[in-house]
Amino acid sequence: KRGGSEAAKRQAGESAATVVEDGAVVGLGTGSTTAHAIRALGEAVESGLDVQGIPTSYQSRELAREVGVPLTTLDDASPDVAIDGADQAANGDLVKGGGAAHAREKLVADAADRLVIVVDDSKLADALSVPVPVEVLPDARTPVAARISELGGEPDLRAAERKDGPVVTDNGNLVLDCDFGTIDDPVGLATTLSAIPGVVEHGLFVGMADELHVGSADDVTVQRF
Ligand code: A5P
Repeated sequence: KRGGSEAAKRQAGESAATVVEDGAVVGLGTGSTTAHAIRALGEAVESGLDVQGIPTSYQSRELAREVGVPLTTLDDASPDVAIDGADQAANGDLVKGGGAAHAREKLVADAADRLVIVVDDSKLADALSVPVPVEVLPDARTPVAARISELGGEPDLRAAERKDGPVVTDNGNLVLDCDFGTIDDPVGLATTLSAIPGVVEHGLFVGMADELHVGSADDVTVQRF
């Protein structure tokens, strides 16, 4: 599993679940940290909280169903708040997409009035430096990889773990993990990546997070942006 301890992830996830108010529509992010928030929401629903969730992936939809969080869609509701994880966070900017769900995550996050990010403290950095996941149309993988190389990145087609071949996203696309080293200009890189034909979405979330709930083994701190 990526990231820090399960206890730290739980601290962050459960803290974020407490921001959800009665009657709210909640974007349900993806990953092992957000899963703690979804489980906590399930318990709150059992105790009478009225919420509707908008899942960002197959994984988060299945978990929400399992724990009893009622679901809706972006066609029927607009999220008051979205809760989601990140692979790295620096000054409120994020790299996401370790679970290949960043396209829907960004859509839901952008639609939400408030984006609450949950991470354990191993994910905090001074500058973003982990590879940026870039979801591409299947036909676009070679030309997009060439463009990424021209930009100084190192693209790596994400391979599936338990099948021979690439990861296929929930949207039927492929993922290039693009190593740019330390990212000095996240805004510029985000704009450049978005403009490449065949790129469906990239995992840079710049200036989107409103709150960061950072879990450690026995505590949580909240940063606001
Ligand atoms: C999914 O595509 C990602 O954006 C996740 O939100 C991110 O990888 C965090 O996952 P973990 O909480 O499991 O580290």
